Amino acid sequence: MKVELFEMERMQSMYERVVDYELSESGVHALRLSELLGGEDAAKAFLEIPLGYPHADGTPGLRAAVAATYRKASTENVFVTNGSSEANFIAAWHLFEKGDEVALMTPNYAQMWGLAKTWGLKIKPLWLKEELDWQFDLEDLKKVVTKKTKVIQVCNPNNPTGAIMGEKQRKALLDAAKDSGSWLLSDEVYLGAEREAPLTESLWSDYEKTLITNGLSKAYGLPGLRIGWLVGQPETLSAVKHHHDYLTLTPAAPSDRLATLALEPKKRKQIFARTRAILQKNYPVLKEWMDAHGDLFHHVPPAAGAICYIRYNMKINSVVLSERLRKEKSVLMVPGDHFGMDGYMRIGTGPPKDYLHAGLDRVDELLRELQAGKKR
Ligand SMILES: Cc1ncc(COP(=O)(O)O)c(C=O)c1O
Repeated sequence: MKVELFEMERMQSMYERVVDYELSESGVHALRLSELLGGEDAAKAFLEIPLGYPHADGTPGLRAAVAATYRKASTENVFVTNGSSEANFIAAWHLFEKGDEVALMTPNYAQMWGLAKTWGLKIKPLWLKEELDWQFDLEDLKKVVTKKTKVIQVCNPNNPTGAIMGEKQRKALLDAAKDSGSWLLSDEVYLGAEREAPLTESLWSDYEKTLITNGLSKAYGLPGLRIGWLVGQPETLSAVKHHHDYLTLTPAAPSDRLATLALEPKKRKQIFARTRAILQKNYPVLKEWMDAHGDLFHHVPPAAGAICYIRYNMKINSVVLSERLRKEKSVLMVPGDHFGMDGYMRIGTGPPKDYLHAGLDRVDELLRELQAGKKR
């Protein structure tokens, strides 16, 4: 089977550890294991974890800790996976069938788009519009979601725009899913990474055809644990698990334990406060840098995520710009083309502040060369 190329992930896998300045990541810089454990007793206990196969669904303790972060969810509503990407994958594998119609929030993390293309589904984009501060138009929703829609997939808070779905949109989306009888699949991995706004409300509700995916990679700054999860009705989850049996079988035992620590209410609060502090410190660095370039850049301030989606006023294709930055200046950024939109770049604001400054200085070098019309 020919697999649709997941351009952004392939680019990151190849270059994120090679470049001097990695500004393609969308989460905040990671916590250290010692910070998460937070003391000798916890460290000692961690060393005693048996390395046998853990619970296939995630330990009941971890599932209960995840459930406690949702309104009206219990352990039976949670299934732990290896990253939210695996949660997304098995949800799609369960729901997507050739010929089905799916409504995909666009722009979006391109995993669902790629899977839908690979498996021969009909994709109807639900566009987020810059002039609406990256919300979707309610009239568009009416056109895109019909009785033929099998799944509506959204990413909230959104990658790459950093927008949090507005209240009107949220209500209309839930109504549209119910009226059309479609599945609502919501990727919420940036929930908890709000810069100023209060914690985003999950789309988890009493609508039974709902599946939420989430994990520890972005808002928690713990991508190395590779812990994600699905929240759904127990009958749905038991069907989804059949797919997991052909994949990774279980989460990793040490990660399951560490994730349980991260989700303890006090720890979770501390971690989210750390994330917010990083975003509040770093976004102004990027904003100041953009402002210093006059009308070269335009952006809507991101509400969540360590990302900023920038429209640039230069006659250069976004992939060409991204490749020149990587090859000539050793800086990695995601071109808008990877989200189906030329003329944009996604810049990560999650690294330590000095690193971000230094990375942007390198970008300036190329911008000066471009402006001087220097040919390579
Ligand atoms: C919206 C979204 N979902 C899922 C993922 C994958 O996350 P994980 O590391 O939890 O697999 C990403 C990674 O960038 C993402 O942006």
